[in-house]
Amino acid sequence: MMNKNMYVMMIAIVTACGGLLFGYDVGVISGALLFLGKNFSLNDEGLEIVTSAVLVGSILGALGAGWYTRRFGGRSANMLAGAIFVVGAFASAASDSAETLAISRLIVGLGIGITAVAAPLYIADIAPPDRRGMMITLYQLFITIGILVSYVVDLISAPHWRVMFGLGAVPGVVLAVGMAFLPYSPRWLATRGRMAEAKKVLDQTLEPAMAETALREIQADIERQKNDPQWWLAFRSRAAKKALIITTTLAIFQQLIGINAIIYYAPRIFQKAGFVDEKAALWATLVIGVVNVVATFITIGMVDKSGRRKLLICGLAGMVTSLGILGIAFQQFDRIDTQQSSIQASATPSTTQVDAKTPAINAPVDVAAPKDLPSTAQGSETLAWLTLVCVIVYIACFAFSMGPLVWVLIGEMFPIQARCTGNAIACGGNYFANFIVAATFLSLLNAFGASNTFLLFASISMFALLFVLFFLPETAGRTLEEIERDLGEQLPTSSSTSMPN
Ligand code: BGC
Repeated sequence: MMNKNMYVMMIAIVTACGGLLFGYDVGVISGALLFLGKNFSLNDEGLEIVTSAVLVGSILGALGAGWYTRRFGGRSANMLAGAIFVVGAFASAASDSAETLAISRLIVGLGIGITAVAAPLYIADIAPPDRRGMMITLYQLFITIGILVSYVVDLISAPHWRVMFGLGAVPGVVLAVGMAFLPYSPRWLATRGRMAEAKKVLDQTLEPAMAETALREIQADIERQKNDPQWWLAFRSRAAKKALIITTTLAIFQQLIGINAIIYYAPRIFQKAGFVDEKAALWATLVIGVVNVVATFITIGMVDKSGRRKLLICGLAGMVTSLGILGIAFQQFDRIDTQQSSIQASATPSTTQVDAKTPAINAPVDVAAPKDLPSTAQGSETLAWLTLVCVIVYIACFAFSMGPLVWVLIGEMFPIQARCTGNAIACGGNYFANFIVAATFLSLLNAFGASNTFLLFASISMFALLFVLFFLPETAGRTLEEIERDLGEQLPTSSSTSMPN
């Protein structure tokens, strides 16, 4: 018979497979796009549609998951997400036209969006308070592992893009089948009036004293919120409003600080910085993938001891610094680019003019093998290495702070009645911001240059840091019900700074 700790850990690991779906898909598209363009004769616009379809699906999936999870529970929502992802992965692999591919990618996105809401929520429900942060962080760990695995799959299976997409079904199957063996979440059971079953799950997962307290608190919470039978009335409470504002703002910040711009375009950034050789740029990208996984372990080890705030503050400070240095370092390259463009412009007849923007527009295609970058052999070696170090520091800082902690906070901050809808809104906001960055990053690069774009990300990280400093209460070690009570009172760090309520 498995002991309670192992049982809860096993539940968290199976549920965190939802992260694998997400991560695998983030990474796999870069390699697949290289060959899709040729296969379906897609122009840049077509490639952009195929790329962004998954994000549109994720926004819809996340928003729909609020209703679904509330009605059918996190266990069922995760099973559904896994099943939808399997269908989407096979449909993508079998696509015979750009249109079917775009629709298949949208289906994949639906699965990702649902699990982004349901996985952290379900883990938060099952985990004991003193290990909740670590267990939700497993979800982020699996995202990073998914990204890394997809880089490797892309390298090994190229040019077979159908294999790349098809393999995505594996984590989907693990999630859908694995969840079938897990219990319903005790809070969901309690909200459906199934108290005896809720008690049984609490007894299986928590120490006896803790299980009793948890049951009492859940009952009291449900009793208190009986007067608010409609989900939107749950947001009348001060705690729910604060949770909504804090988590949604952080979820949007998580994307606006530029993480996916760096992840998607790392090879280009490295080439621009002076690692002109394609292989060197790809290796550097693989290093990023590894750093992303390894640094997540810092949070796994520390989140429940040192708390959420400390990790977020250190991580964001590191991101502001590394992005700031990156911005200043790239001023040099932007200058070289501008000089090169003007030399080319004066030497080339206007009809065949080599547009400095062309590589950026084609960017999604060359993520795995960027061939078309203006080579910056002139870029000094020192600056190339400085760029690599800065990008590594940035990724590491993200991986131990904004990466996992946004999911942890989304999973744990909402009062019981507002949880599913609140999670859905925060996750929807996250995917929407992801979509905006993906859609505008290349235009930003073209319009303002790499240097200013990094400085913009640095400034946004600074705002995120201030937001955490002034508005985020510590939630480590508190039960979900205690967090609700804390949020119902003045925020500890901002007695003079009023949050809307
Ligand atoms: C973010 C993703 C990102 C990933 C990188 C996640 O927390 O939501 O957008 O690609 O971290 O590790």
